[in-house]
Formats: sequence, C-alpha cells, structure tokens
Amino acid sequence: MRTLTSVFTATLVAFSFCTAKDYSAQEIADLFYQLNHTKIKPHAKINHSKGFCAKGVFEPVANATKIVNSEFLKQKSIPIEVRYSLGGALDNDNSKGRGMAIKMQGDTESWTMVMLNAEINFAKNAEEFGQFLEMRVPKDGKVDEAQIKKLTQEIDSFRNYEKYLQTMGITKNVAYTPFFSTHTFHFKDSKGNYFPARWRLEPTKVEYANKQELETMGKDFLLENFKDSIKKAPIVYKMYLTYPNKNDRIDDTTALWKGKHKEVLLGNFKVDSLSDYECNFEVFFPSDLPSGISEPKDPLFQIRNEVYGITFGFRN
Ligand code: HEM
Repeated sequence: MRTLTSVFTATLVAFSFCTAKDYSAQEIADLFYQLNHTKIKPHAKINHSKGFCAKGVFEPVANATKIVNSEFLKQKSIPIEVRYSLGGALDNDNSKGRGMAIKMQGDTESWTMVMLNAEINFAKNAEEFGQFLEMRVPKDGKVDEAQIKKLTQEIDSFRNYEKYLQTMGITKNVAYTPFFSTHTFHFKDSKGNYFPARWRLEPTKVEYANKQELETMGKDFLLENFKDSIKKAPIVYKMYLTYPNKNDRIDDTTALWKGKHKEVLLGNFKVDSLSDYECNFEVFFPSDLPSGISEPKDPLFQIRNEVYGITFGFRN
C-alpha cells in the first residue's frame, strides 16, 4: 500500500512539474510585446513606457564606506541620471505603479538602481511572471477576466500583491513617492563579509491624491508637479538600507518584511532638474553594481536583466 501511495505521489509531483511552464527570457519579452506593442509609440520601452528624465546627485553619508565597503561610496557627490515612469504601457498618471530608475556614474565605478514604489512585486520566479502576463493576453480578441480573477485568488504571489496594492494610494508627485529595491542585495561590510539588505528611498513625506484631485489633474500631472517642486528646491530622498529580521525571506521578491527592522542611512539623493527625453531611449540594467555590492540570489534577478537586454534590442 505504502509503495502504491508513493508511486501515486511521485506521478502527481512529476505531472505538476511538467505542467508548470518554465518561461525563458525570450518568451517573457514576447509576452510583453503581445500585451503592449499596440499601446506604445515606435521605439518606446515595452514596459514602463511612459516616463520623463531628470538629473541630480547622490551624496553618500560621511561614514558610508564603514557601512558598505565600496570604492563607489568614497566619492562625496556622484552625478545621477533619473527616469521616472509608470508601470506597464499606461499613459495616464491616474494609476498606482511608479518606477524610478537611476544611473549613477562615479569617477571609477557605476551603479544603476531600478525601483518601484512597492516593497514587493507580483511574481517570485519566471514561471509566475510569465503566467501573470500570459493570462492577460487576449484570446480571440478577448481578455479572459474570469480566469484572471480565478488565478489572482489561487496564486499566493498574485493575491498578496493585489492585497498590498490596496494599501497604497495614487501619489500625485514623484517628490512624495517612496521607492524600493524589492530584491535583496548583498553588501560588503568593513570586515569583508557580505550581509543581505534591501533599500528604500524615503521622500520628505508620502502624499496621495484625493478623488477630486484625480478628476481634475489630467493625465500628465506627475511631470507638471515635478516641475513645480524643483522650482522651489531639489527633491530629496533619504536612502536607507533595511536589514532582514531572522525569519525574513531574502530570496523572494514577493516576501513582505513586516514590522520593525534595523535601518541605516547610506546617503541622500537630490534631484534638481529636468533633462531631455534621452533616458527613454536608454536601458537601465539592475545588474550594474559597483564593487562591494553583489547581486540578489532570488530566481528573478538574472532573467529580469536578460529580458531588459532583449527588449532594448527590439526597440532600437
Ligand atoms: C523577471 C522580472 C521582470 C521582468 C521580466 C521585467 C521586465 C521589464 C521590461 C521588459 C522593462 C523595459 C526595459 C527596457 O526596454 O528598457 C522593464 C522596465 C522596468 N522595470 Fe521591470 N521587470 C521585472 C522585474 C522588475 C522588478 C522586480 C522591478 C522593481 C524592483 C522592476 C522595475 C522596472 C522599472 C522601474 C522599469 C523602468 C526602467 C526605465 O525607466 O527604463 N522590474 N521591466
């Protein structure tokens, strides 16, 4: 009997393993095209298509290299190129997802950060990421809303992300929007050992738009409000490293780190001017890291970078 049960279990495991689709970077890039290519302008990014470009500096705190032993952090002020964006191929700022990509070019090293305004994302691996996109692709001209609803309830990552989004409002200004690394990176300490941490960019305050503002602000209010903000003063974000607690997952971008955590200020970002639209034609690779900072060990990071390379190639 025991043998029969184990044969049955093994068959079941093998069967479910075969049915879980293993998406390649190319297949994920293709899904983005199937979903978004009719919604975007020629040469636009296929994801985070709408965006604007800005400039500023990153100023590491005086003891930054004692926290993270990186050549990069020895420089007092590092010029930065910023791209603020909306998620997906959306064209209306009246939506929740915001992206902030930053290229920092130091004297000898560079660091690119590609962040969202959410601590977690909707997929922990390529399978879930591909499935999340594929269920949204129209079949015979129709999106299967019932199937989207069903899978959003059934798959933990999708359901948790949906729940998380309900805790967020629509920010009216990127100056008042926090941004997060989502992945856990690894940082070298002063003794040469690596420790895991996520980071976040904390604005001076977080502010959501109310219903009336959303009805009257039009669809491009982020750029308008950004221009107003920088007329008065540079937009400042404090960059904190967040250390995991004992039971926090460090290999899972869908894992929310709840409760109190040790946090350390690593530097300040100051964004002070708008720049031309050149950044829309560039690519931002999260794998561009300086010495002393190493890649996340989750199953999404590598394929994420590969997809960015493929879609960058498609649009040029
Ligand atoms: C496998 C996982 C992921 C895939 C396949 C993916 C896919 C993409 C693609 C195709 C683009 C457009 C790239 C280009 O053509 O330049 C993009 C942009 C972007 N992604 Fe992801 N993404 C993933 C995960 C994430 C995560 C975890 C974050 C945030 C922590 C994120 C934040 C962004 C942002 C902010 C942009 C816009 C960058 C810019 O301004 O150029 N993505 N993503």
